[in-house]
Amino acid sequence: MATKRASATASSTQPTQVTREQLIKGLQDDIAREYKAIIQYVIFSQKLDSARFMNIADQLTEHAHQELDHALAIARQLDYFGAYPVHEPKPIEVSEDNEGMLRLDLQAEDDTIRNYRERIRQADALGEYALGEILREIVKQEQDHQIDLATALGVVPNEQERKGTSKAKPGGK
Ligand SMILES: [Fe+2]
Ligand SMILES: [Fe+2]
Repeated sequence: MATKRASATASSTQPTQVTREQLIKGLQDDIAREYKAIIQYVIFSQKLDSARFMNIADQLTEHAHQELDHALAIARQLDYFGAYPVHEPKPIEVSEDNEGMLRLDLQAEDDTIRNYRERIRQADALGEYALGEILREIVKQEQDHQIDLATALGVVPNEQERKGTSKAKPGGK
């Protein structure tokens, strides 16, 4: 019913400054990232050919299906906000070698997770709690993807840890 009283209750702490337009723009970027993920996983799940990575190839097939579910869920949310979903994927990145493919996927998952975390903050700030819940479910799966890829590559899943930007030292060289 009443869909337009978002600003009435200044909910507690910092006023996260975000508009509905910014949220929608963010969701459009999210769906474009999902399209990209679907395409990369479709290709890489079939192109991995090293015996060492056979397990992960099956997982990539699974990821492809889940990314499609995410794209559908985001499209539904965009429709709810009266926006027409974009139809262009974010630029697809490919590699010929096994490790290269997995690294590209891992980078993409890092990027996706960072963005969904931001989108959850925006959704919550606007009182769009159902959207926030949907995004939380998605980001859980994205983190699983990140773990699968990192494990196959033998690196740490958490991006900050992996890049040494957690609370360690400010990366000296
Ligand atoms: Fe996804
Ligand atoms: Fe993913």
